[in-house]
Amino acid sequence: MSITNCFRYLAHSALKRSIGIVNPRFIHTTVQLLHGEYEWQDPKSEDEIVNITYIDKDGKETAVRGKVGDNVLYLAHRYGVEMEGACEASLACTTCHVYVQDEYLDRLTAPEEKEDDLLDMAPFLRENSRLGCQILLQKELEGMRLQLPQATRNFYVDGHKPKPH
Ligand code: FES
Repeated sequence: MSITNCFRYLAHSALKRSIGIVNPRFIHTTVQLLHGEYEWQDPKSEDEIVNITYIDKDGKETAVRGKVGDNVLYLAHRYGVEMEGACEASLACTTCHVYVQDEYLDRLTAPEEKEDDLLDMAPFLRENSRLGCQILLQKELEGMRLQLPQATRNFYVDGHKPKPH
């Protein structure tokens, strides 16, 4: 290819990329969901449904029809429950702190060491404290009630609030 043709080819490729025409060989067939996107999808069958209830710091209850695999933090965002989640589930804050109804505690996956370390610094810590962003719904959690603490502390980035995707 001559130098001129080479420049033409590069300019043409750049133009195609800029207007969204891409070589089909490089199109990925898997769809990656952004944080929280999965939780905006309704259950596809009755078998998937997991009903839970959030209780905010003022005692207001929000019953939610979730599904297997939903992250409790992002599901709360979908239904307007004030669970902050400043670090977006990267285990760097405690703003998703929740109290899990006692009888459901043993049904959850055991916390990682990092979750335990963070919880140790959380205000209003209780025996049944967990980080909401580490709880994924499963059928065994049907009927679970999650209560939000009076306050949370954010040591992630001062004032950072996650934006809805
Ligand atoms: S959102 Fe930060 S630890 Fe859960």
